[in-house]
Amino acid sequence: MPDRRNIVILTGAGISAESGVATFRGPGGLWEGHRVEDVCTPQALARDSELVHRFYDERRAKLASVEPNAAHRALAALDAKWPGELLLVTQNVDDLHERAGSARLLHMHGELKSALCAACGIRIGWEDALPPETECSNCGTPALRPDIVFFGEMPYQMERIEHALAQAHLFVSIGTSGAVYPAAGFVQTARYHGAATLELNLDPSEGSLWFGESRMGPAGVLVPAWVEEVLVGA
Ligand code: APR
Repeated sequence: MPDRRNIVILTGAGISAESGVATFRGPGGLWEGHRVEDVCTPQALARDSELVHRFYDERRAKLASVEPNAAHRALAALDAKWPGELLLVTQNVDDLHERAGSARLLHMHGELKSALCAACGIRIGWEDALPPETECSNCGTPALRPDIVFFGEMPYQMERIEHALAQAHLFVSIGTSGAVYPAAGFVQTARYHGAATLELNLDPSEGSLWFGESRMGPAGVLVPAWVEEVLVGA
């Protein structure tokens, strides 16, 4: 009988680290180049839109020089083969999960390859630099901004995430420090609803104590091994 358990997976910057994408809180992390307040808040955008747009333009341009790693590819294989419900929730704004082939995926903190109109709310695929005051093709207002959920703003698709966590049999967290809510609270929600919980991370995180099991090591090693385990008998 194929395994029809429902799985929710949360990924953070650590899953992209081995692809060469900087994490946020590690040594030399992205924020160390900038104070969060200078590049990832609505106030920062209002105060210095040139700096904020330039910061995300640089990160968008860098995507051309990185590739999905074994961890992204393993999750894509799981997505293709898992017979039960599966939802991959990423905090990452890179496009490496998509490029690896994951389909049942959502970006709760937005995406570098998307622009958001601050006037009409439409989200538009975006590949190149996005200067401030770029005109929205939908409403004509010069109000396109990086489609990134700033601190203090509501993450995307929270109802869908909460519903998936309530139905989950297994919650797996990969490559995140557990420093930022609401993502950091997903493990507690999953446990409350009776799910088993597993953490795959390089170092102990702020949420490690909440996980039924924590495995420490690089995602490129731990994730393929875990996916192989799960797919046996699926
Ligand atoms: N394999 C597995 N885990 C790794 C690896 C690796 N190769 N390298 C680093 N890690 C782990 C670190 O131990 C750390 O716990 O990934 C985590 C990265 O933590 P952060 O840099 O805080 O990134 P993240 O948890 O995704 O941040 C959450 O904060 O700044 C905001 O919106 C931003 O989405 C981001 C959110």
